[in-house]
Order: sequence, then C-alpha cells, then structure tokens
Amino acid sequence: MHILHVVGARPNFMKAAPVCRALAERLAVRQTLVHTGQHYDANMSEVFFSQLRMPAPDVNLEVGSGSHAQQTAEIMRRFEPVVLETKPDLVLVYGDVNSTVAAALVCSKLLIRVGHVEAGLRSFDRTMPEEINRLVTDRLSDLLFTPSEDGDTNLEHEGVPTENIHRVGNVMIDSLIQLLPVAAQCSRDGLPDRYALVTIHRPSNVDDSESLKGVLESLLQVNEQLPVVFPVHPRTRQRIADFGTHLEKLYLLEPLPYIEFLALQRRAAVVITDSGGIQEETTYLGVPCLTIRDNTERPVTVTVGTNILVGQDRKKLMSELGKVLSGKGKTGKVPPLWDGNAGDRIAEILSRTASI
Ligand code: UD1
Repeated sequence: MHILHVVGARPNFMKAAPVCRALAERLAVRQTLVHTGQHYDANMSEVFFSQLRMPAPDVNLEVGSGSHAQQTAEIMRRFEPVVLETKPDLVLVYGDVNSTVAAALVCSKLLIRVGHVEAGLRSFDRTMPEEINRLVTDRLSDLLFTPSEDGDTNLEHEGVPTENIHRVGNVMIDSLIQLLPVAAQCSRDGLPDRYALVTIHRPSNVDDSESLKGVLESLLQVNEQLPVVFPVHPRTRQRIADFGTHLEKLYLLEPLPYIEFLALQRRAAVVITDSGGIQEETTYLGVPCLTIRDNTERPVTVTVGTNILVGQDRKKLMSELGKVLSGKGKTGKVPPLWDGNAGDRIAEILSRTASI
C-alpha cells in the first residue's frame, strides 16, 4: 500500500506528523510526503519539520504565494505529474488550506482515493476562503476523518454516506501532547511573567484597512492592562507595514517555532487570536481564548472548551479581558477523543478499510 501525504502550510505540519508516524509503524505501508511550498519561509515551514521529527519532504512543489486562483492552480499543475509518476493508492490531505483542496481536486480526477484529515468542520461562512476549501475537499473525499461530533453531523446533513465518516479525534492535539513536556522546559528571556498572547492573520481582520485599524487599536488598549506578546504572521506584518501603524509598545516577535509557541501558550493568562488551531490548543491547555471572529468552524471549543467569540467588538473583548484579570476567565473541558491517539486511529482504520 502506498500512501501519499500532501502538506503545504504551517497548520498542516502538526496534523500530518502523527499520522505519518503511526503509519510508519506498519511495515506494509510505503509513504511519500509532498510539500506544496505554499509556506516557504524557514520559520513557517522547515523548523516545524525538525521539531515534529517529520522526514524531509520527498517532493517540494515550491509554488510560493499568489492569488487564491493562481496558488491553487499552480499546486494542481505541479502536483498532477507527481501523482502520475508515484501512483499512490491513497492520498491524505489535511485541514482547509489551498494545498488541501488543490490536491483533492487533482486526485479525484485521476480516480485516486482521497482521505481528508480534519473533515466536516463548518463555519457556515463562505466569505472565508477556508470554508470553500473545506466544502470542496469533503465533497471529493472518500474517507472523512472528523475531530468531533459536529463534524459527523455536518457531513451527514450534506449527504455523505455514514460509512465514509470516521470520528478519530484531533490529530493536532496528538502533536501537542507529544511535545508539551519539551515545551514545559522551554523559556524565553525578556518577556513579562503575565501576558496576553496574540496571533492575527485572517484576511477578514488584516486585509481591510478599517478592520486592521480596529484590531490594532484594540490590542493597544489590551496592552494597557496586560502586556501583549504578538508573534506576527508574514501576511499581517506586510499589512501593518503598508498601514504604518505604530506598535512599539507591544512585544512583537517573528513567527515562532512550534515548541516555542506552545511554551508561550501554556503560560499565557489569555490568548487572543483568529486562528482555527489555536482555539483548539487553548481548549486542551485550559487557557482562556478570545477569538476575534464572529463564527467558528470549531464550535466544540466554545461549547466544551475555553473559547469565546468576541468578533471585532472591542467592548466585549475588554469585558472578557476584565474577567480574566479578576480570575474569572472561562474554564472548560477537553473534548472526547482529543487524547493523543488520533493518528493511531487513522492508521488503524486505513489498515482495516484499505488492507494495509
Ligand atoms: C494560510 C491558510 C490559512 C492558515 C494559514 C496559517 C489558505 C487559504 N489559508 O493563510 O487557512 O490559517 O495559512 O498560516 O490556504 N508568506 C510569507 N512567507 C511564507 C508564507 C506566506 O511571507 O512562508 C506571505 C506571503 O506574502 C503571502 C501571505 O503571507 O502572500 C499569505 O500566505 P498564504 O499562504 O497565501 O496564506 P496565509 O495567510 O498564510
């Protein structure tokens, strides 16, 4: 059995690592790892491979940046010959980035089976590029691995046959559990003891100058009550530079490696973010999370975990921050099957359904 994994952007790497590892323990599986090159800076890509102990990619398509159509089309154009040459029995795609949907499209037209890891998540907001990627990828996938019950329900409503849906839990939490002991040993000089950790990169928050201005003003206001530590995504850095906003009062950092970011998350008083994965990681860590979005494709982080959607409503952000500062921040539980064994469950299902 030959399984080909496709990864491309930062949030893919920690999802693929546990699946690659679980499959490597099965002797009859040959694996090929393809990196599309959607993320290419060393601190957005290479460092994750080394910290997650992933093998170097067998193929790097080096597509780089572009508009959505350009990037997706370029991945498809460069990926198709790789599939034709390596002839995998199954292709695994991860999450909701442009690399995910591009690879799923190529394989479904070549009649190669596709497995989607992190299937079924829906924000029901089609202004998000990731929502389009999720809908199309799930529609084209033969095996749908979901992290939580809402994923199964969404897929069933869309008419996906139940036998194709496999609730395996959260692969990203596998990586977190594996590396948390290492993160616990990791400290960073020059940062305050108590801080709010911030990440912002969604187009809806940073591409429109009015929205970005509002978000940055909110962060400056937060910083008056709790120091803000802010590793800045390249997309956001570019927009801030275009915009000329002054943020010297904040602790601005380059994008951080996985372990260093995990170390900052576990010690944070609160996390303020618009990321998808960080809503889940904070829920696992029991750290209150204020999400600068109106909706989430990961509702279990709100119903079970520590997440609160504050949108771009500054009053709500400040009032939730006040609760955190007075020791009344949201507490929660870890959702079922977020236990470090999701990668093994996927390998097990593949060995049953695909005769590995
Ligand atoms: C992508 C994903 C998003 C995910 C995010 C994590 C899609 C549609 N979006 O968004 O779901 O949450 O990754 O980071 O796939 N850039 C660099 N260096 C890099 C990569 C990007 O400088 O290594 C800059 C480029 O200017 C690029 C911009 O960041 O144009 C955006 O990168 P892109 O991959 O298009 O989307 P992200 O915003 O990173």
